[in-house]
Amino acid sequence: MKQYQVGIIGATGMVGQRFATLLEHHPWFHVAVLAASSRSAGKTYEEAVGGRWQLSAPMPESMKGMVVLDAENDLKKIAGQVDFVFCAVNMDKRKAKELEEAYARAECPVISNNSANRGVPDVPMIVPEINPDHAQVIETQRRRFGTKRGFIAVKSNCSIQSYVPAVTPLLDLGVTKILACTYQAVSGAGKTFRSWPEMVDNVIPFIAGEEEKSENEPLKIWGRVENGVIVNAVSPSITTQCLRVPVSDGHTAAVFVSMKKKIPTEEMIGRWENYSGEPQRLHLPSAPKHFLHYFHEEDRPQSKLDRNLENGMAISIGRLRPDTQYDYKFVSLSHNTLRGAAGGGVLMAELLCAKGYLD
Ligand SMILES: NC(=O)c1ccc[n+]([C@@H]2O[C@H](COP(=O)([O-])OP(=O)(O)OC[C@H]3O[C@@H](n4cnc5c(N)ncnc54)[C@H](OP(=O)(O)O)[C@@H]3O)[C@@H](O)[C@H]2O)c1
Repeated sequence: MKQYQVGIIGATGMVGQRFATLLEHHPWFHVAVLAASSRSAGKTYEEAVGGRWQLSAPMPESMKGMVVLDAENDLKKIAGQVDFVFCAVNMDKRKAKELEEAYARAECPVISNNSANRGVPDVPMIVPEINPDHAQVIETQRRRFGTKRGFIAVKSNCSIQSYVPAVTPLLDLGVTKILACTYQAVSGAGKTFRSWPEMVDNVIPFIAGEEEKSENEPLKIWGRVENGVIVNAVSPSITTQCLRVPVSDGHTAAVFVSMKKKIPTEEMIGRWENYSGEPQRLHLPSAPKHFLHYFHEEDRPQSKLDRNLENGMAISIGRLRPDTQYDYKFVSLSHNTLRGAAGGGVLMAELLCAKGYLD
């Protein structure tokens, strides 16, 4: 496989740091550029991050001395040095949209973790095991931008990564409604217990914008491509409550589903255990061997024990049982900054490379 030169925009942040560690020894991608805001620009990566390194894995030695560029003012220079960029910035939504579009127009594809472009019908929102075919709308987007290479592809919100993968293998049974309560880690806000001490021994029942994203984004992922754009699915109906809980990493969801055709719980578990997609078929470097793992123990999955399953790229499911109000209920867990953010972004880029969109 060809070697790709890549940039990380937002490299100093929580998700950017994850990208840095995941890409340090990546077989296809070499980090040629680190970029962030003007506050960090001109400093070495080590200086710019300062005391903000949030991961237990150390900062990659090869990146410590790299000089951080300004994602906005150095855009042309960055676009000229890399084949594509990963982007995870904490910016005003309008500005983030403009920034991503400017990179795409400069013929530099953007693999984005930001929400700014998620609602655009010709911007694919890809979970590689679920809707790899949505990549085809990139051609429509390129026509809109007038580009040969440049485009934007986005990752979904981290909260839905725990329950959308678990519901997907059940969709053909006619899933009519879903209720999901998510219990989300502090790293999902780009923070740790050190930088957010109020979260110790506490639950906060509000995460701005999260419930809206959690109810809408699955319908795009389960949507179909029509006339070169994605048309969102109209069902199932989804309602959510999203809570911030005192967990460092790992978003858990308590999920209730109703469906037209009921099957025994063993059959549902079989569907999960046998589910696989393009990443497994193509043996992509970051793909988990098994996307969905079912735990038969009644006290699993647990965020602390199970979030790092298959390098944080697998989804853990457990506690499937009938419910009195819905047909079934279960619990599912995903690592929010790995599968839910940087790891999911890297896997999406691998898929798009394998399909020729990043050549
Ligand atoms: N944390 C998660 O679990 C998670 C999951 C999925 C998606 N996301 C999304 O990923 C994005 C980043 O999240 P995060 O948790 O990594 O945030 P974060 O830790 O606050 O980091 C934000 C990054 O954005 C950079 N930035 C801020 N203003 C900028 C500007 N004007 N130009 C260029 N870079 C700028 C910062 O650079 P400086 O250091 O120079 O200020 C920093 O690198 C957000 O859109 C978030 O919603 C996060």
